[in-house]
Amino acid sequence: MEIEEVLMARDELIVVTGATGRQGGAVARHLLADGWRVRGVTRSAGSAAARELARRGVEVVTADMGDLASLGRAFAGAYGVYSVQNAMTATSEGEVAQGRNVATAAAEAGVSHLVHGSAGPGTPGTGVAAWDGKLEVAAYARSRGLSLTVLRPTAFMELMTDKDLYPPVAAWHLMPRIVGEDRPLPWLCADDLGAIAAQAFADPATYAGLDIGLAADVRTIAQCRADWRAVTGRSPRRFPMPLWLFERFVGQDLTRMWRWLATHDIPADVDRTRSLLPTAVTVEEFLRRRLA
Ligand SMILES: NC(=O)c1ccc[n+]([C@@H]2O[C@H](COP(=O)([O-])OP(=O)(O)OC[C@H]3O[C@@H](n4cnc5c(N)ncnc54)[C@H](OP(=O)(O)O)[C@@H]3O)[C@@H](O)[C@H]2O)c1
Repeated sequence: MEIEEVLMARDELIVVTGATGRQGGAVARHLLADGWRVRGVTRSAGSAAARELARRGVEVVTADMGDLASLGRAFAGAYGVYSVQNAMTATSEGEVAQGRNVATAAAEAGVSHLVHGSAGPGTPGTGVAAWDGKLEVAAYARSRGLSLTVLRPTAFMELMTDKDLYPPVAAWHLMPRIVGEDRPLPWLCADDLGAIAAQAFADPATYAGLDIGLAADVRTIAQCRADWRAVTGRSPRRFPMPLWLFERFVGQDLTRMWRWLATHDIPADVDRTRSLLPTAVTVEEFLRRRLA
């Protein structure tokens, strides 16, 4: 071990839910780099993503956020827990139930700090289940007396690049049609969310009690497309799927979110995000790293 690694080594354990996914994966990577012991929760320890986590030094445990007892076992001995759910796969009710389970298990395990991966404007009553449900989860965690940090990005830059988010259909076709080509949107990449989450665990005195809207860049879709062209020399691929068919695949909450974004401004404090993480990347830099 290098001397810097020795100085950074920590005894405490952080449990990361969603560790095989985009957010949790980024959180786990940054925690490992900072010298924490990291335990990653997955439903299937045999998956390629789970095996890769184990290879990197994460203790992989099997638990289901729908099963409180399994979370209790996963959180035993933890100093901190990173909590993230996904309404797209769990349903809106499922997301809230899972988020409450994580908070319950964290409180019962005596966890010192919970960081919640939230999203959206942070105001109730948007009608967007994936946003409103996250407020309910955070309120419940507070009611359990947990020391809590809420991290609230709105749009991940990965919407433009990651295959599982169907960029040719969503980011480059239906989203601009519904949100509008020229609506400014707050963007953050998942890796920078992971870096800020790791800071929250390292410095709870600063981060406890905070609910932070995160954005490293504010760009319209038209500007993002221009950034893509500047980086690759061509436009991003578009697949003009009809809206009704898209909604049949993914439900209506996402398109409800886009309609909300078409008519409401999300306060995006880029300066605050940059004060927390000066290296946070812009959309153009993100695309350059991914595509150039
Ligand atoms: N897309 C955006 O622009 C954006 C922006 C801001 C916030 N968000 C929010 O990001 C969240 C999704 O995060 P992500 O992109 O990191 O998701 P993701 O890449 O799809 O990963 C989902 C993770 O959740 C785990 N998981 C799912 N169901 C589980 C269960 N029942 N028990 C235990 N683990 C379970 C999966 O693990 P296994 O499969 O290994 O079990 C996987 O690691 C959503 O809440 C969304 O609202 C998205």
